[in-house]
Amino acid sequence: MKKLVAGNVSWVGKVDWELETFHGDEFSTHRGSTYNSYVIEEGKTVLIDTVWAPFAKEFVDNLEAEGLLSKLDAVIAQHAEVDHSGAMPELMRRRPDLPVYCSANGIKSLKGHYHQDWDFHPVKTGDEFDLGNGKKLVFVEAPMLHWPDSMFSYMTGDAILFSNDAFGQHLATERLFNDQVDQAELEEECIKYYANILTPFSPLVKAKIDQVLALGLPVSMIATSHGVIWRDDPTQIVKKYLDWSQSYQEDRVAILYDSMWNGTRTLAEALARGISDASPSTTVVAHSLSKFDKNDALTDVFRSKAVLMGSPTVNKGILSAVAMVMEEMKGLKFTGKKAAAFGTYGWSGESVAVLGTRLKDAGFELVDDGFKALWNPDPAALEAAYEYGKRFAASIR
Ligand code: FEO
Repeated sequence: MKKLVAGNVSWVGKVDWELETFHGDEFSTHRGSTYNSYVIEEGKTVLIDTVWAPFAKEFVDNLEAEGLLSKLDAVIAQHAEVDHSGAMPELMRRRPDLPVYCSANGIKSLKGHYHQDWDFHPVKTGDEFDLGNGKKLVFVEAPMLHWPDSMFSYMTGDAILFSNDAFGQHLATERLFNDQVDQAELEEECIKYYANILTPFSPLVKAKIDQVLALGLPVSMIATSHGVIWRDDPTQIVKKYLDWSQSYQEDRVAILYDSMWNGTRTLAEALARGISDASPSTTVVAHSLSKFDKNDALTDVFRSKAVLMGSPTVNKGILSAVAMVMEEMKGLKFTGKKAAAFGTYGWSGESVAVLGTRLKDAGFELVDDGFKALWNPDPAALEAAYEYGKRFAASIR
């Protein structure tokens, strides 16, 4: 249902309380999400983005019930990923005459998804759409934030930046604004979203923010496509993005591991004790990758200054849960982080070397050759792991 954002701008999106995973099963969404769509009713009536396909009929029916469907003069498709363009086929079926404004890459992507030849109007950075009443939308292409077609739209007068995915978070809420939700939950979802989606594009994040800030435009609100709208100190999230985009790290160590018969688990616990005792200011977190959520683990990698990856040797390699997360860590292109590997073994014992190579390939700086223990760690091996944890803490100061 329509909710007032400011002036003649309203939210007409969808709150998805049931969403458990996003991007297929790649991203866990413990708190659901929203697909934010906005309508501007000035001299012209313009829709910005739509919602995910399962809600297409509900979305367009709502537009009709609000008397908006027949009033629309244009739709701005800021990004063609299906969570925002999924209702386009239903919308265009019922309003085939509607002009579609998007980036040139947006046309390619929308055609690729829906195989339709809608009335496309490509826009570039600096192009404007006259809304009437002395207001306009100014478009800013934002390639790779996070798709090649992504773009922002800035509304003059009301000074609202429609940022699409950037500055968003997967947080289902009936509240529209950042000051109306639990701040700890909001922060948690923002950093998880950045860590798991935007980290590979960090250099572009910084460049784009610098470019937008250089325009010196007033910004009263940042209206994202997921989660809340930033109206209370809206640039706070921009400052966070600048911080996060520059090899972000806290005084934190993430231990990620999997274990077959608890040997590598006991090493992880001894390492955690060693690091904590040697460096009381450091927060140490351990994640069993086969038991707990990988996106939460990756968020902790993002927040950490160093990582310990653990696996026993199996079939001359590493356990699949660890291999899967290593693959994601490589793709996310973390920078400026130190690392080492650990694990138990019974026969050949390749896992620590395999993990070391993969950590290096993923851009981590190895502090040494890692720590390995033969068979099930006995008290002496656990003491050695504890001491290794202390040395590791010293090497990452
Ligand atoms: Fe929210 Fe890139 O889609």
